[in-house]
Parts: sequence; structure tokens; C-alpha cells
Amino acid sequence: MVKSSTAEIPETRPIPRHIAIIMDGNGRWAQQRFLPRIGGHKRGVEAVRAVVRACGERGVEYLTLFAFSSENWRRPPDEVSFLMRLFMMALEQEVGKLHENGIRFRVIGDLSRFEPKLVSLIREAEGLTRDNDGLTLTVAANYGGRWDILQAANRMLKDRPELASGFGENDLAPYLALSYAPEPDLFIRTGGEQRISNFVLWQLAYTELYFTDTLWPDFDATALEHAIVSYQQRERRFGRTSEQLPQAVERATHRRVTG
Ligand code: IPE
Ligand code: IPE
Ligand code: MG
Repeated sequence: MVKSSTAEIPETRPIPRHIAIIMDGNGRWAQQRFLPRIGGHKRGVEAVRAVVRACGERGVEYLTLFAFSSENWRRPPDEVSFLMRLFMMALEQEVGKLHENGIRFRVIGDLSRFEPKLVSLIREAEGLTRDNDGLTLTVAANYGGRWDILQAANRMLKDRPELASGFGENDLAPYLALSYAPEPDLFIRTGGEQRISNFVLWQLAYTELYFTDTLWPDFDATALEHAIVSYQQRERRFGRTSEQLPQAVERATHRRVTG
């Protein structure tokens, strides 16, 4: 069972185990080059490739990418259908390579609005890569943090109606879409905006947040490294004081022993 940061204090490591990214700024990247917005989305796929590779090399265990939010249906229909086609094309082209590289691929989100062909490509890709033990790459598609909490609560109550009178974190956790992953250690949003835009809400409770003006198509291994370095400078207290952290206790003991 995945540990909850509010129920117990997680172990922290220099390399985040789980990075969650809002890949924003494709449209502006294209507009700056007088290209149609879709040109930015195409280049965004290349940035995904680079970041997946870099995460694998850095020993990140889980990478979760926000590709399409439950609110993105509000965009012009042409852009929405281009994004769907791009997702399908990327799946067709990349899944073999992901599998060769030992990557486990997952999609979270409400797939009921997607075309059956896209849904079957997703299911095939998940099935093919399910036993891989490298990086777990999750794509959030037609995903919304509120949708996730509600679908989890509804499924839980269907399975266990006796919980209607009250339930706890541990009852709900297995039903959340990301139940197989530890909570994200590091959240990155590119494109300059400083908001969560209904991405994973429940699991971001104690995640370190990193915002950069870099537009998603320009985000690469070096940009990822900057985010990781920023993360390494954070003090993750989870409600405690600085003096209570294991490093501080060790330093104090060392001072007492060595005088
Ligand atoms: C993010 O880039 C990609 C998706 C939401 C699919 P945007 O398309 O939001 O790019 P900007 O924010 O308009 O620059
Ligand atoms: C968030 O980006 C969703 C994805 C990156 C998929 P948006 O560009 O849609 O977010 P808002 O609307 O500016 O908050
Ligand atoms: Mg945007």
C-alpha cells in the first residue's frame, strides 16, 4: 500500500522518486514563431521524449505528465481533435521504444469520452508494458483532480457501502487513479503560469512545487536538472521543525560526540 504523507512521514531522497509535470506553453511557443498552435504541440512530443529519457537516466521511478485536462475540451474543436490525433500517433510510434527501454506505461483519466480506437491503443500499450520494471510513465489524459477524488469515492462506496457513514484516507487511497505510485516529490509547471489547473490534487499535499518560465517545447534534460537541483535545496519538513529533521539530529549527535 502506498504511504500517505499526511498519515506518516515519507523518506526523502536526493533524487525525487516521483515527478509530476504540467507541460504548458506549447501554444505560446508556436505563436512566438508565427506557427499555428498545433506546431507547438508537435514539438511538445519531442520534449516528452527527452524528459522521459532523462528521468530514466537520473533514476526517477515515476513520471506523470499532464497531457489533456478535463477542462481542455473547452478549446476550439480543431485543436482538440488535433491533440487526440497526436496522442494516437505518438502511441503508435513510441510504445515499442518505451517497451524496449523497460518503461511501464499507464494512462489516468476518464477515457469514456475518447474514441474507441484511442482507448484500445491505450489498453494495448498498458498491457504490453505492464510487467516492465523501469520508469513508470503515466500520462494524464482527460484527467482532473476533482474527477479523480469523486470517482475514487464513488467506486469505494459501491464496493463498500458500509463506509457511507464515514471513511478514512486508507479506505479511499486504493481507488485513486495514481494508487500504484508514491505521492509526487516534485511538481513542475512550465510556461510561466503558477497554478495547479486541477492536476493531481489529493497527492500534491506535500509535494515541492517548481515553476519555470521555460515553455514546454524548450524543456530538456538541462531544464530538468535545474528543477532537481532546486528540489535538492528544499527542506522537506512535513510539519516538523528544522531541528527535528534526521539530518539536524545527526549533526547534533555528532557535535556532542566529537565535542
Ligand atoms: C499545453 O500547452 C498543452 C495542452 C494543454 C494540451 P498550451 O496549449 O496550454 O500552451 P499555451 O499555454 O497556450 O501556451
Ligand atoms: C494545463 O494547461 C493542462 C495541461 C497541460 C494538459 P492549460 O494551459 O490548459 O491550463 P490553464 O487553462 O492555463 O490553467
Ligand atoms: Mg496553457
